[in-house]
Amino acid sequence: MGEELAAGPEQRARSLQEFLRTRVFGRKTCWHLQVGSTNDLAARLAAEGAPEGTLVVADQQEMGRGRGGRQWYSPPGLGLYFSLVLRPREYARIVPLQTFLTAVALTEVIRARCRLAATIRWPNDVFIEGRKVAGILAEARMLGSGIRNLVVGVGWNLRHRAADFPDDLRGRATSLAAAGMEEVNSIPLLAYLLEVWENWYERFSKEGADSLLEAWRRYSPESTGHWVRVADGKRILTGKTRGVDSEGALLVEGDDGCVNRIRFGEVQSMLEVRS
Ligand code: BTN
Repeated sequence: MGEELAAGPEQRARSLQEFLRTRVFGRKTCWHLQVGSTNDLAARLAAEGAPEGTLVVADQQEMGRGRGGRQWYSPPGLGLYFSLVLRPREYARIVPLQTFLTAVALTEVIRARCRLAATIRWPNDVFIEGRKVAGILAEARMLGSGIRNLVVGVGWNLRHRAADFPDDLRGRATSLAAAGMEEVNSIPLLAYLLEVWENWYERFSKEGADSLLEAWRRYSPESTGHWVRVADGKRILTGKTRGVDSEGALLVEGDDGCVNRIRFGEVQSMLEVRS
């Protein structure tokens, strides 16, 4: 990425246009050297009327945000940090499915282009060999029970070596390079992701969730029949996963045999199989 960074953000935005094969996603791109959070900037642009598909990318984030109030480590030269403005017509309760779309697209790109065995951990973390390689943060602005606009932010670890991660992440995070990809070219990868993502987005809005959920389930084998510990904000629950329902909620069967429907939260860990 040294050479890519040397070129400057305007040039990277232009280079992205050369690789893009989308209709809308990324056709308007603002690429910055450094921002607080691309999600914040994209939300501001969305509120000012930016069109669907507007993309905000930064080489570095000072205050990159993750889910659950965590920070997203965003140093220059190692990862991609970007946010897309969407204006879906559906109701708020399907916001989780919008992040499923992004996770499916990321997984397909990593499998097809990087030849790495990416999987999804509910709700939308992308993993390679048990370590997280990409995370998604979706933030919606509502209009009644509908969505006025949705900003979907993605942090994607590309070139980190183990030593590049802070101590608390080292055992849990990976990057494409650390997982074995030899030459990581971020701009063609981003262009391809936007293309696959846009195809899923259009298919979802025309045909509904069936094929999306089928793909998501295929890429998330641990969401069925695996022991997990899940936090949903109020409690921590241990049980066996029983798949996801049509709104993207995770079903977890507790020791008492009751199935809990978890709409928001995250799988904290996979547990050793119990008898
Ligand atoms: C997670 O916790 O897994 C979600 C991480 C999302 C990080 C990305 S980086 C680009 C965008 N801007 C942010 O501040 N966060 C998201």
